[in-house]
Amino acid sequence: MAKSDFPYVHGFSKKEQDRLRRQAKFWEYSIFEGINFSSCKKLLEIGCGVGANTEILLRRYPDIFVEGIDINEAQIEEAKRYLPTIPYGKDRFHIQKMDAGNLEFKSNSFDGAFLCWVLEHVPDPVRVLSEVRRILKPGGRLVVNEVMNHTFFLEPYSPHVWKLWMAFNDFQYDHAGDPFVGAKLGNLLTQVGFRQVKTEVINLHLDNRNPEKRTEIIEFWTELLMSGRDSLIEASYIDEETFDKAMDEFKTVRRDPNAVFMYSFMRCEARVLNEY
Ligand SMILES: C[S@@+](CC[C@H](N)C(=O)[O-])C[C@H]1O[C@@H](n2cnc3c(N)ncnc32)[C@H](O)[C@@H]1O
Repeated sequence: MAKSDFPYVHGFSKKEQDRLRRQAKFWEYSIFEGINFSSCKKLLEIGCGVGANTEILLRRYPDIFVEGIDINEAQIEEAKRYLPTIPYGKDRFHIQKMDAGNLEFKSNSFDGAFLCWVLEHVPDPVRVLSEVRRILKPGGRLVVNEVMNHTFFLEPYSPHVWKLWMAFNDFQYDHAGDPFVGAKLGNLLTQVGFRQVKTEVINLHLDNRNPEKRTEIIEFWTELLMSGRDSLIEASYIDEETFDKAMDEFKTVRRDPNAVFMYSFMRCEARVLNEY
């Protein structure tokens, strides 16, 4: 399939910006538990969006300064509005518009870098990771989290949800993204010169033993797919009827006392050992 120019499947509405903040809170434990940026003084967050993970970085690592970049004006504006409202963020961040594939920073100038759900949206992840490798000092640490959309599972069987899910993935893939990029991170990081590359598959498996969390993720997933509704229908990746049936199936799953939800993502840590 031909890869064409990048439209962002979720859009940049206020609703989507709120979703990103809820998303960051939902995944916080899975993403940050066991990650240690406490020796980092200056960290680059690539694709910081509305500042949802920037807030978490500032809260968890009180000595860190976060330089946040994003390619989208609306996200940047919202991050600039939101982050000054956080008391522990004062004088500890700087947000600007920049393309991750063309970082306007000196080589060897950061001791940490963080990317979360960004590489799935970029046309050339190798270029972005090469840039990250370039700006990190020797000893610098990278943490990157990425999707593995082939791992999504839902019980009871929901055929329209599957159609919608594959339409979502096809749209992203055809528009220069990669909904499966998480599985490839080990190769990509090694290829651009990172060392001590550790990959960890983080599994979310929710069933009767944790009904509240299960309901939360099913609602969250419904919202995630809702965020792509207009893009997918407009580009004829799915029709309205199939979309609506998928939403009905989500409601059925939410009510089912024996529902099961599974999804896994990739969390990687890697180091830079030598000067660029
Ligand atoms: C799914 S959002 C994730 C935002 C944030 N990392 C979070 O977890 O809340 C992906 C972000 O990557 C940004 N992005 C996409 N391509 C980019 C690029 N080439 N350079 C910088 N940011 C980019 C988008 O504008 C969007 O804000």
